[in-house]
Amino acid sequence: MVDNCMGPNPLWLLEDLGRDCSLRPGMKVLDLGCGLGMTSIFLAREYGVEVWASELWVAPEENTARFEQTGVVDQVHAVRAEAHDLPFESEQFDAILSVGSYHYFGTDDLYLGYIGKFLKAGGQLSIAVPSLHRELRALGGIPEYLRSGAGWEALAFHTPEWWRFQWEQTGLVEVTASRAQPDGWLDWKLWCEVCAEHSPNELVRQGSRDTISMLDTDRGELLTFALITGQKKEPSEQYFSSMSASL
Ligand SMILES: C[S@@+](CC[C@H](N)C(=O)[O-])C[C@H]1O[C@@H](n2cnc3c(N)ncnc32)[C@H](O)[C@@H]1O
Repeated sequence: MVDNCMGPNPLWLLEDLGRDCSLRPGMKVLDLGCGLGMTSIFLAREYGVEVWASELWVAPEENTARFEQTGVVDQVHAVRAEAHDLPFESEQFDAILSVGSYHYFGTDDLYLGYIGKFLKAGGQLSIAVPSLHRELRALGGIPEYLRSGAGWEALAFHTPEWWRFQWEQTGLVEVTASRAQPDGWLDWKLWCEVCAEHSPNELVRQGSRDTISMLDTDRGELLTFALITGQKKEPSEQYFSSMSASL
């Protein structure tokens, strides 16, 4: 896992996120921003679903080799794709999951309208992202320790309430779960400690030490993870979507 993580432990997050989803064998699932594919392997093995492992930064050949080694290559398809230009059919998926990635592109007000097209009616969109207990705007800006640990990109961290509002206001999905992990920061720190000690890559070890220092300063005051799940409404229930389609 140390070798195949690109951020906070995605399998710990996925295990928790899975409590809010209903995944059944044979379902078609998009793993959006799957990194080195660990979550895709987990989804195939633990839930028996068919997975499209979609990723921008990692070559699909590299992920396919991992899917072969782990015996899931018949069930998991590696795809290179930018999140705004996905090569999928409309309504192709029963579920779209995104662990540790959605905040890179999904804070755009209009993104839900785009990604939702790939879900069947009744399908689930489920994300786990770094999150805050309070919005930065309410704090007057990014606290210095957060800026040194996560950079200005911390602007993409939001509360579960922020995500719920963004999604509900589209009228496209019903938000079925939106919660912060109460002690998410402790899991985040534990995983950084593991990586700081065991990663073969000095950049990862250094990044993990920097994150530990940020988390130790914060001590769960602001930082955690948000787990948000929405269910796509039937077209007849999508009050606002017809309005936006006509604009
Ligand atoms: C920190 S990594 C997390 C990867 C993996 N989920 C994990 O936890 O190990 C963030 C991921 O977001 C994806 N990503 C960032 N911007 C993206 C974009 N514009 N389109 C698609 N994927 C994007 C990257 O490809 C990357 O794998």
